[in-house]
Amino acid sequence: MIMRNFKRSNALVRPMETVKGFSKLSKEAKVEWLCSHFSDPESAYETLSMYWNDDEALQKLHDEFIENTVSNFYLPFGIAPNFLIDGKTYCIPMAIEESSVVAAAAKAANFWLDRGGFKTRIISTTKVGHVHFAYWGDYDKLLSFFEGHIKALLFKEAEPLTKNMRARGGGIKDILLINKTFEEPNYYQLLCTFETCDSMGANFINSCLEQFSRTFRREIENSDLFTPREKELQVIMCILSNYTPECLVRAEVSCKVEELEDEKKEYTWQEFVDKFEKAVHIARIEPYRATTHNKGVMNGIDSVVIATGNDFRAVEASAHTYASRSGKYRSLTDVKVENGVFTFWIEVPLSLGTVGGITTLHPMVRFALEMLGNPNAPQLMGLTAVVGLAQNFSALRSLVTSGIQKGHMKMHLLNILNQLEATEEERKVIVKYFETDTVSHSKVVELFCELRGVKSLSELKK
Ligand code: MEV
Repeated sequence: MIMRNFKRSNALVRPMETVKGFSKLSKEAKVEWLCSHFSDPESAYETLSMYWNDDEALQKLHDEFIENTVSNFYLPFGIAPNFLIDGKTYCIPMAIEESSVVAAAAKAANFWLDRGGFKTRIISTTKVGHVHFAYWGDYDKLLSFFEGHIKALLFKEAEPLTKNMRARGGGIKDILLINKTFEEPNYYQLLCTFETCDSMGANFINSCLEQFSRTFRREIENSDLFTPREKELQVIMCILSNYTPECLVRAEVSCKVEELEDEKKEYTWQEFVDKFEKAVHIARIEPYRATTHNKGVMNGIDSVVIATGNDFRAVEASAHTYASRSGKYRSLTDVKVENGVFTFWIEVPLSLGTVGGITTLHPMVRFALEMLGNPNAPQLMGLTAVVGLAQNFSALRSLVTSGIQKGHMKMHLLNILNQLEATEEERKVIVKYFETDTVSHSKVVELFCELRGVKSLSELKK
C-alpha cells in the first residue's frame, strides 16, 4: 500500500471569496478554483484527485449524485457475519468510520448465535405527510366541506400519481383535517398517511401532498360556501414528516439468565444481569446517559442505513423524536428479566427503502442489498433494528464489565499507528505488545519512540 505524506500542504492561504454561477462551471474549473486557495495548490489537487475513480462512468455517476462534486469521500465498508435473525443467518454490511463499531456488532452476533439469535417484528409501516395551512374562518364549515366534498376528490385527483404505488399494494391511506389553532392561531393541517411499500417514499409523498394542496385550494376558491376572507386560505408548505412513529419495528434477543455467564469467569451471570438492567434503567431516566446509549444504538443503525443507500439523517431525526415521545428523552432499548429469562429489545421507527433513491444506482449499495438477500423494506427494517440492538448490547456488556476503553482502544490502535506513520515492522511489534496490555495513546507513542531510538516525537520532526 502506498502511504503518502500530505502534511506539507493543504492550508488555506486566502479566504474563500464569493463566486457567482459556480454550479455551472465544469468540474475541472471548480477544482481549480478551490485548489487555488491553498498554500500548495498542487498538493490540494493531489488530495482531491487521488480519490477520483479511474472508471470514468463510475466517477460520473458519483459526480451526479450531488451538485458541485469535486471528489469522493470514502467510508470503510465492513461486514459483520454470523447474525442469526428470525432463523436465518446474515452477513451485515456496515459503512462507518468509527473503529470499534463493526467489531462490536460482530461480537454481539456471535454471542447471540449460540443463544437463539435475534427475532424481529414489524409493528407498522405507515408514513406521514402534511399540508400545513392557515385559514381565517369557520372551522366547522371547513370540516364539513372537507369530509363531504374535498376528501374524495383529493384521492381521485392524485390517482395518476398513486396508480403505480396502488398496483404494488400501497398508496394513500387516509387524509384528515386537523385543527391546530390551540397551538398556533389559524393553523390547520391536512394530515395524510401513506403506505409506500419498498420505497422510502419521500418523492411519492411530497408529490401527492402538492397535488392535494392544488385541489384543496381550488375547491375552496370555487365554492360559494366560503367568504372572501375564508377563500384566502394560505397553503404554507407541503412536506412529508421524517417522524415515522407508525413505521415501527421491534427486534429482541432472549435467553435463560444462566446463559449470560462469562466464559472467562470474570463475572457471574447474576452480576452481569444486575448491572445490565441498572444500566438500561439509567438510560431510561437520565437523558445525559440516554443520549450516549442511543448514540451507540445509532452507530449500528446508521452504518447499515448508509451501506444500503438510505437516508441516515431521516432515520436519526425520527429515532430521537421517538425516544422523546413520553416528553422525556429515553433509551430506545429496554430490558426485562422474568421467570429466569433475560429479554432485551429495541423498538425504533425506521423509514427505509430497498427500491428508488440511490439503491439501484450505487454499485456498493446494490452489493450490500444482494448480500442481505435483496430484502424488501420491512425485512430491511428488521435487519437494521437488529444491528442497533446488537451494538447496544455489546456497548453495555463492555461498559458493565471490562469498561469500554479496552476494546475501543484496541481497535483505535491502527489509527494511532497510521497517524505516526509507523512502518509495517513497527506496527507488528507494537500490535504484539498490546496483545497483553491495554492500549493508551501515550504508551503507543512511547513504544514508537523507543523503536525509532528517540526520546520524543518532536525529535523526529527536526
Ligand atoms: C461510542 O461510539 C458508543 C458508546 O458510547 C455507546 C454507549 O455508551 O452505550 C460506547
